[in-house]
Amino acid sequence: DKGNHRHFMQKEIFEQPTVVAQTLGRLLDPNTGSVRLPDLPFDLGSVKRITIVACGTSFYAGMVAKYWIEKFARVGVDVDIASEFRYRDPVYETGGLALFISQSGETADTLAALRHAKAGGQHIAAVVNVPQSTMAREADVVLPTYAGPEIGVASTKAFTCQLAVLASFAVALGRAKGHVSEAEEAKMVADLERIPSQMAKILHHQEDLVDIARKLAKARDILFVGRGIHYPIAMEGALKLKEISYIHAEGYAAGELKHGPIALIDENVPVIGLAPSDGLFDKSLSNLQEIMARKGRLILVSDHLTAFTENEMHGSFAMPSASDLTSPFLYALPVQLLAYHTAVEKGTDVDQPRNLAKAVTVE
Ligand code: F6R
Repeated sequence: DKGNHRHFMQKEIFEQPTVVAQTLGRLLDPNTGSVRLPDLPFDLGSVKRITIVACGTSFYAGMVAKYWIEKFARVGVDVDIASEFRYRDPVYETGGLALFISQSGETADTLAALRHAKAGGQHIAAVVNVPQSTMAREADVVLPTYAGPEIGVASTKAFTCQLAVLASFAVALGRAKGHVSEAEEAKMVADLERIPSQMAKILHHQEDLVDIARKLAKARDILFVGRGIHYPIAMEGALKLKEISYIHAEGYAAGELKHGPIALIDENVPVIGLAPSDGLFDKSLSNLQEIMARKGRLILVSDHLTAFTENEMHGSFAMPSASDLTSPFLYALPVQLLAYHTAVEKGTDVDQPRNLAKAVTVE
């Protein structure tokens, strides 16, 4: 049932405050200000390196997790797409931790990678949305997302619920490793608990994205750029847009543009810049200026829109200010909504895009 939404995808985008709260609710204890993970069959404090493997949108959640885990827990993380990982002869550390992320828990490549890592003596953790799935059964420990059934082929609420689990995991690991103090943990838990209401506020402004989507619908190529933890969100935005609107889109690390992709930029190419006013803001601004100098059409998504004048920009969307811990949850929303409204504008089959299946159970 789509309720009063036109598509399942839209319904699922709007469910995010609820399902992220549900997922966080299983992991955070507001009374003690601490994270409570399910019982682990290994000692979190002795984890030395983590291998994360997934496909598609779940892979981008893994990339976000890499930034969090390295920053908060100082544990090195390798992230790879399953179809490459399993055929690459990966090197396992004895007793290492391998983490698999999958909405369906059935994706053939991710499942094969899980079995490979298990045979390689790794502890196996799985972040899955379907509790009775094969990956949930075969993992040593399941870190469930509580997104509820996701019907739209393009993943939305499963992604932000994966982020909820991974953020909580990163904080717990940081604590176990002694890099996050009790007070810092309490502050992070409080920040995480504010996310659902912040998400609801952003969703409330979806109309502001409809005009931008109308412009995007006319484009042939679109770039999404971000830095740091917003780089995977840029890639997620490009994936979402291409899969449902069929417009060619790429996500790039803003600092990488000048190494090639900037050659694509002209007055016909919209560039969606994800640029929160964090420690990388000045760097992002100079990258966005380079784009505008080549007549690229900047659409700025930021909490600091005054960095450019209205005339300089092709469009903009105002964000609340956020920390590295909370910001990926929030920036995921405008990129999902831009993809959604662009697809609606183009008249594509949003919930059942061509050539795609909800669970990819073949290699
Ligand atoms: C994109 C999308 C796919 C899936 C990918 C992995 O919107 O839905 O990229 O994320 O096929 O699927 P799961 O998470 O079920 O392993």
